[in-house]
Amino acid sequence: MGFKKSTPLNLDFMALLSLVLMVYCFESVVWPELIRKSKEGGLDVIETYVFWNYHEPVRGQYYFEGRFDLVKFVKTVQEAGLLVHLRIGPYACAEWNYGGFPLWLHFIPGIQFRTTNDLYKSEMLRFLAKIVGLMKEENLFASQGGPIILAQVENEYELVEWAYGIAGDLYVKWAAETAISLNTSVPWVMCRQGDAFEKFKSFGYPIPHRPVEDLAFAIARFFETGGTFHNYYMYFGGTNFGRTAGGPLVATSYDYDAPIDEYGFIRQPKWGHLRDLHLAIKHCEEYLVCSDPTHQQLGHNLEAHIYYKPSNECAAFLANYDSKLDANVTFNGNLYSLPAWSVSILPDCKNVIFNTAKVVSQRNIGDNSFAQTSAVNRILLSASSWSWYKEEPGVWGNNSFTDSRLLEQINTTKDTSDYLWYTTSIIKSDPSDEAFLLIESLGHAALVFVNKKLVAFGYGNHDDPSFSISKKIRLVEGNNTLDVLSMMIGVQNFGPWFDIQGAGIFSVVLFDLLNGKHHASSVEWTYQVGLEGEYLGLDKVSLAKSSIWKTGSIPPINATLIWYKVSFLAPEGKGPLALNLSSMGKGQAWVNGQSIGRYWPAYLSPSDGCNKTCDYRGTYDSTKCQKDCGQPAQTLYHIPRSWVNPGNNLLVLHEELGGDPTKISVLTRTGQEICSFVSENDPLPVDSWKPNLGFMSQSPQARLTCEQGWRITSINFASFGSPSGNCGEFTRGTCHGNVLSTVQKACIGQEQCSISISTAYLGDPCPGVLKSLAIEALCSD
Ligand SMILES: *[C@@H]1O[C@H](CO)[C@@H](O)[C@H](O)[C@H]1NC(C)=O
Ligand SMILES: *[C@@H]1O[C@H](CO)[C@@H](O)[C@H](O)[C@H]1NC(C)=O
Ligand SMILES: *[C@@H]1O[C@H](CO)[C@@H](O)[C@H](O)[C@H]1NC(C)=O
Ligand SMILES: *[C@@H]1O[C@H](CO)[C@@H](O)[C@H](O)[C@H]1NC(C)=O
Ligand SMILES: *[C@@H]1O[C@H](CO)[C@@H](O)[C@H](O)[C@H]1NC(C)=O
Ligand SMILES: *[C@@H]1O[C@H](CO)[C@@H](O)[C@H](O)[C@H]1NC(C)=O
Ligand SMILES: *[C@@H]1O[C@H](CO)[C@@H](O)[C@H](O)[C@H]1NC(C)=O
Ligand SMILES: *[C@@H]1O[C@H](CO)[C@@H](O)[C@H](O)[C@H]1NC(C)=O
Repeated sequence: MGFKKSTPLNLDFMALLSLVLMVYCFESVVWPELIRKSKEGGLDVIETYVFWNYHEPVRGQYYFEGRFDLVKFVKTVQEAGLLVHLRIGPYACAEWNYGGFPLWLHFIPGIQFRTTNDLYKSEMLRFLAKIVGLMKEENLFASQGGPIILAQVENEYELVEWAYGIAGDLYVKWAAETAISLNTSVPWVMCRQGDAFEKFKSFGYPIPHRPVEDLAFAIARFFETGGTFHNYYMYFGGTNFGRTAGGPLVATSYDYDAPIDEYGFIRQPKWGHLRDLHLAIKHCEEYLVCSDPTHQQLGHNLEAHIYYKPSNECAAFLANYDSKLDANVTFNGNLYSLPAWSVSILPDCKNVIFNTAKVVSQRNIGDNSFAQTSAVNRILLSASSWSWYKEEPGVWGNNSFTDSRLLEQINTTKDTSDYLWYTTSIIKSDPSDEAFLLIESLGHAALVFVNKKLVAFGYGNHDDPSFSISKKIRLVEGNNTLDVLSMMIGVQNFGPWFDIQGAGIFSVVLFDLLNGKHHASSVEWTYQVGLEGEYLGLDKVSLAKSSIWKTGSIPPINATLIWYKVSFLAPEGKGPLALNLSSMGKGQAWVNGQSIGRYWPAYLSPSDGCNKTCDYRGTYDSTKCQKDCGQPAQTLYHIPRSWVNPGNNLLVLHEELGGDPTKISVLTRTGQEICSFVSENDPLPVDSWKPNLGFMSQSPQARLTCEQGWRITSINFASFGSPSGNCGEFTRGTCHGNVLSTVQKACIGQEQCSISISTAYLGDPCPGVLKSLAIEALCSD
């Protein structure tokens, strides 16, 4: 999303903005910490969606408590000195259940979503007015002295507008006029960024990673060519707990490979390199707001954009957008080297203070917080005493009902549960015992039981949730039972008319090998909404002592439709925890009664499509740099620290397919392994640049910073010379200066330290050779 200066928006600052779902993801105790990390990362604006389904769970009954306290969130951002972009929508998408719409909206007779439908428009207007009113009451709009500088109506409508025809055009116009009529006096926007739609994490897919060099390149190009307002999707995504993850088949982790990871830890070098970029852009700010850029071609795939002040002083961006060839360019009488697919930023049209391809910021080992095995505390639940409750397939309660048709699932469950039982009986009058069963479903997954025995499991995927199951089954003479448990994995959140996409079984055909075809779709079906365990409340703390739970030395392993319960001591510490569910199949987990979401580690992504080496150069798409092919999309599940007690905690799992609960572990971080690799010819630190004075630092710097609360306790590697390798596996080169004691002296016991890459400070092990300093350090309590 970007604004040209010609829009009525009068922003006299550079806005680099993060989209933060934290209102709904984290307890409010961690908001200030996340906002601080965003601010230190150079962001000006915090952005959040407003999820209608959580703020108005029942029509006319609003909810703004706890982690849904929107006013408190906006005030927390304000206290940190940042601004707010409020994406009211009410359509959000956001891989969130039903795109943020409450399910009750679907059941208003005659309603049609996101088009010129009076019923829909009046509900949407009511919610917009409610949120705007709430913000006005608290004086939170910028015109009232508050932090909200922008508001958003609708979201990504351009992607679907074609499907709604002329009514869609009229609706967009109405939405814009309606928003303006609410008199917020801050500009409204409609995010319609069709070209930036990226893949996120869903079950059964590999994980996309965008290299920071390419991300920085794209952002620098945006500001180079006149952009003023950049929006990260995501800067911090967090976790979609409970059944908030949208659908279908979206994983709970909304990590997004973002600069702040799912657990709230800083991801390096992404966070640090982008912070340097933000700082470099801000050094050009007074030029950027003065004029439109002047373009200058510097060669093939080489160009400059120059921003002038009336005084004729200037700032410049030099870009090499060739995806292969490095280049040297002459600009303003000086020679500059530009690596392929990079932008250099010159705040005075002379000195390069940042190049998008040269990453000098600190690095981490691994992609996620828990990859650093030496800095993780792990508690295995194998020795714990487990209890379990096994459900029988089929109807379990006296509130079942019958119908002669196959019913659509969402209309039947109203999304009060992921589950709907479809059961019927098959009468066989002849002795032939083999038959083919063909079941077709709109989605998202189903377990099939014949005579109470599991015979098949079928499922779709995020892009096509529909599936069919064909299975040779054995029947007995007389009365056979067929029980199908149809499962939803989040209500659809995206696409034209997504709100009326259905789920559940729509056709069942039995091919009797002796008598030919037999249609089962139109026989009498008995329905039961939800699982027995849900009805009993087995996920609740109050049921933990119930005698319904069976106990024994070893819990059943590989069992379907089983509930497990265990008491565990949380690993000590202040940080977040992770539950390692890689030994489980598919289901849901609760800690102390709070749902940590749906899990499905048994669903592996295809084994091809990943690449060990990822070339950041060239146009990015989400399939370019995938990881974890042939692996589950997610094995670790986030437990916020505020959800556990110092003493005993209750873990409840509902396993649908079969797994081994004794291999589950609970993890927390005890520290972090950090690295730095900086060379003599790397850029000087961008934060040492002072306008009119130049660089305060005369040499590049190696910087190490621990997460708040930890200090550098050991230096595990330090070499100045020609070291090589990646973070975690550095090795000495032929040129090696032993600088261990110098680094130890500067860093041990510190939260952060900085070392000049200069022979004056580090000595010179091999004169005339270009040298680098590589450091590996451990931060801990
Ligand atoms: C917005 O301002 C106009 C003109 O002052 C007024 O007529 C209208 O009622 C206001 N609307 C709201 C929702 O406050
Ligand atoms: C750029 O110039 C440097 C120094 O003259 C030279 O070493 C390098 O090979 C040149 N690079 C390219 C791509 O021409
Ligand atoms: C069945 O009926 C009894 C008695 O009316 C009631 O207490 C119970 O909650 C019902 N159970 C279910 C599963 O509907
Ligand atoms: C679901 O219910 C809605 C509203 O009652 C109705 O318009 C729609 O046709 C139903 N969908 C299906 C698939 O039965
Ligand atoms: C078949 O068995 C089911 C479940 O036990 C029962 O409800 C049904 O009435 C039986 N049908 C016949 C024809 O006996
Ligand atoms: C559980 O099932 C898996 C996969 O079918 C199998 O490899 C494993 O041996 C089974 N474990 C037990 C204890 O039955
Ligand atoms: C998760 O547990 C599995 C064993 O079930 C183990 O192989 C894996 O290394 C664990 N992952 C982490 C991050 O601890
Ligand atoms: C992996 O990278 C190589 C070299 O860049 C490339 O030729 C190949 O097509 C890539 N494979 C995939 C699956 O992206």
